[in-house]
Amino acid sequence: MNLLQFDNNSTLAECAAKLTIDRLKSAISEFGDAVWVLAGGNTPMTCYEVISNKYVDLLDWQKVWFLMGDERHVNTEHSDSNWGAIEEQLLSKLNVSVDHLLPPAYSENLEEMAKNYSASLYRLPANGNGRPRLDVVWLGIGEDGHSLSLFPGNDLSMTDLVMPVSNSPKPPSERISLTLFTLAQARYGLVLATGEAKANAVKKLVDNDMAAPVAQAVEKIESREGTVYLLVDRQAGSLIDN
Ligand code: 6PG
Repeated sequence: MNLLQFDNNSTLAECAAKLTIDRLKSAISEFGDAVWVLAGGNTPMTCYEVISNKYVDLLDWQKVWFLMGDERHVNTEHSDSNWGAIEEQLLSKLNVSVDHLLPPAYSENLEEMAKNYSASLYRLPANGNGRPRLDVVWLGIGEDGHSLSLFPGNDLSMTDLVMPVSNSPKPPSERISLTLFTLAQARYGLVLATGEAKANAVKKLVDNDMAAPVAQAVEKIESREGTVYLLVDRQAGSLIDN
């Protein structure tokens, strides 16, 4: 894992935006299209904003596929929806191909919602394993060391692409999430962490503490061909021994 430290959230966001556009561009030159797994929560919002304000013209967004790393058990119009927030902040400002947008479709039944999302991800371009090729994966990090909706204490051994999570300590309690199994298909991961509240979790990640799901997520990405960058601002990185 490569550690990148920034003075503040805006320099971090600028770098996340540039790295992402670079990687999406190189995937497009290699494969003709690119796949971006979006992260929910608040931290990435500044990064989405940088892209939508400054970098809209730098890429042929029609060639990019978008999917969600995790979603709350709500429909995309709900104020809690990760997809809905990203649509407003970013997707609505890009010239995307509607066909390449993969929002999680809401089902009242959580298991069914996870299964349906899993099935829809097979529309993505496949890699040599016959599994979805994930060119860029953004990951948030929770104070307890969670990432996506993979929380400490959950059974993370599932081998479907998407799992239902019904006991999230972070509200809302019901969610769906990409699994560790799916993250093994990632080619490039960016973990984004800002603010003092994340310092302990960041330390666990840097120390490879596997009790923190984010550390397991990074290990999975690196287990095949993936490269991971951890981007932290001064506060989130304050407990890292340099
Ligand atoms: C969500 C998430 C979650 C998030 C972290 C960090 O649905 O909230 O996707 O995993 O990435 O909890 O969230 P913040 O960036 O809001 O702190």
